[in-house]
Amino acid sequence: MNERTAAIINRRRFIGLAATAGATALFGGALAGCSSESTEPRASQSAADEAAPERPTDTGAAASPEATASSQALVAVFSWSGHTAQVADRIHELVKSDYFRIEPAEPYTDDYNALLDVAQREQDEDYRPALAASVDNWDEYDTIYLGFPVWWYHVPQIIKTFVTEHDLTGKTVAVFGTSGGSSVASTLGNIEALCPGVAFAGNLTLDGDAVASQLDRVDTWLGDLGLR
Ligand SMILES: Cc1cc2nc3c(=O)[nH]c(=O)nc-3n(C[C@H](O)[C@H](O)[C@H](O)COP(=O)(O)O)c2cc1C
Repeated sequence: MNERTAAIINRRRFIGLAATAGATALFGGALAGCSSESTEPRASQSAADEAAPERPTDTGAAASPEATASSQALVAVFSWSGHTAQVADRIHELVKSDYFRIEPAEPYTDDYNALLDVAQREQDEDYRPALAASVDNWDEYDTIYLGFPVWWYHVPQIIKTFVTEHDLTGKTVAVFGTSGGSSVASTLGNIEALCPGVAFAGNLTLDGDAVASQLDRVDTWLGDLGLR
């Protein structure tokens, strides 16, 4: 995307484009377990909006108050401006879990408009940013709460890096995120394309600009999923 496009398509604009996103973001399709291959997303989407998470810890990980050495749930979140991190924090408060912040080895720009371009370019080139750190003891977790903001109707490319380096096969995966209107549900295919058999327990999308006032939806979501 060029500067002009970036200037036009801002966070607010995404709200207006939400309906389009919902229609076009049905990518994905499953192929074979988490793979590092650059796979073009195909149509498919699982779980209804609102379904499944568990307990958080940061692996580089920080345990929630109730977490124990035998905790089997992990909240893993990428958040550029902090909206999605608020959701992650709420899940971590409510569910016994460890917590891991997904970060790029090379930090993203702090400039929103510049980031729009960077993210678009990464997506166009299917570039996979390196992770600053990996999850320790990944095999110990059976439930993963995976969170991220919607970027250009897809998962941020760093999430593709994460799921190729952390095999989701055999784990219960609850996806949550924030956006300016697009649904996280429409990005599930991006993950499925890399992790063919991934089992989504559910997904939840909150409005990034109003996340603080919507956190009670997290409680409901977790309850509906039977994860708290
Ligand atoms: C690079 C980029 C791309 C975005 N693409 C979309 C999009 O496709 N649809 C949408 O509704 N919002 C989009 N947004 C808005 C973010 O999803 C929203 O602001 C989100 O709450 C940010 O979460 P964070 O604070 O955890 O980074 C985009 C924002 C950025 C920076």
